[in-house]
Amino acid sequence: MSDLHHRVEETRAILERIARDFSPAVFASSLAAEDMVLTDLILKAKLPIGIFSLETGRLHAETLAMVDKVRDTYGYEIALFRPQPEAVEAYVAQNGLNAFYDSVEMRKECCRVRKVEPLGRALSGKQAWITGQRRAQSSTRAELAVQEDDAAHGMQKFNPLADWSEDNVWEYLRANEVPYNALHDRGYPSIGCEPCTRAIQPGEDVRAGRWWWENPESKECGLHVVDGKLIRIKSVAA
Ligand code: ADX
Ligand code: SF4
Repeated sequence: MSDLHHRVEETRAILERIARDFSPAVFASSLAAEDMVLTDLILKAKLPIGIFSLETGRLHAETLAMVDKVRDTYGYEIALFRPQPEAVEAYVAQNGLNAFYDSVEMRKECCRVRKVEPLGRALSGKQAWITGQRRAQSSTRAELAVQEDDAAHGMQKFNPLADWSEDNVWEYLRANEVPYNALHDRGYPSIGCEPCTRAIQPGEDVRAGRWWWENPESKECGLHVVDGKLIRIKSVAA
């Protein structure tokens, strides 16, 4: 059995187990490559797992276009969770539209308003959520488990692609003709909000283009909390 075939079978089995034992479960999709693998597996198997995206209001047009691509390809409407307008207005009125460049605190507050609070709403009433995180993405994900106890949200959290390599992801997408974000062909292996993501140079860490102006130690996404602590997102080559 090829490496990819084996991983796909394992991942399918994990997703089936989540759908069976942790209903209602949801999948958080950033609409990037890893998340399209999971989208394809979930939708082709017609698993009862809802898919949502946090539409921060600052995503690239190419990322938003993936919502249409998924509708056209699978006939599925990804649920979009948006920040509370009053919270965004208050942040912008007080700090300006792009205050996240000013300090780590300002950046975290923007992520809190635009991502973390909407995530709480998306997960409300669920028994489990699923992410597309992989161990090889960064040193801080090196210990990532397939199943975690997400105490902060009071539910199980699954990372079914934990073992997958970047090559596995692309082999899967190509072999199954899965649509993917056009930015991946323009030097963006990792895609977040437009003002906080840039293309990387050959040889750079895959997350080097995320919050590139911050010290590697301060980089944290705010979405992934383990044992009450935020996972540090380190970018080795940044
Ligand atoms: S993160 O720091 O932005 O969280 P990354 O882009 O590597 O890191 O995403 C890791 C996982 O977090 C994705 O596979 C997805 O499950 C979830 N995620 C990130 N951004 C979003 C988003 N905008 N909407 C929904 N899920 C997201
Ligand atoms: Fe705000 Fe940037 Fe965080 Fe997006 S990634 S929520 S724009 S600070």
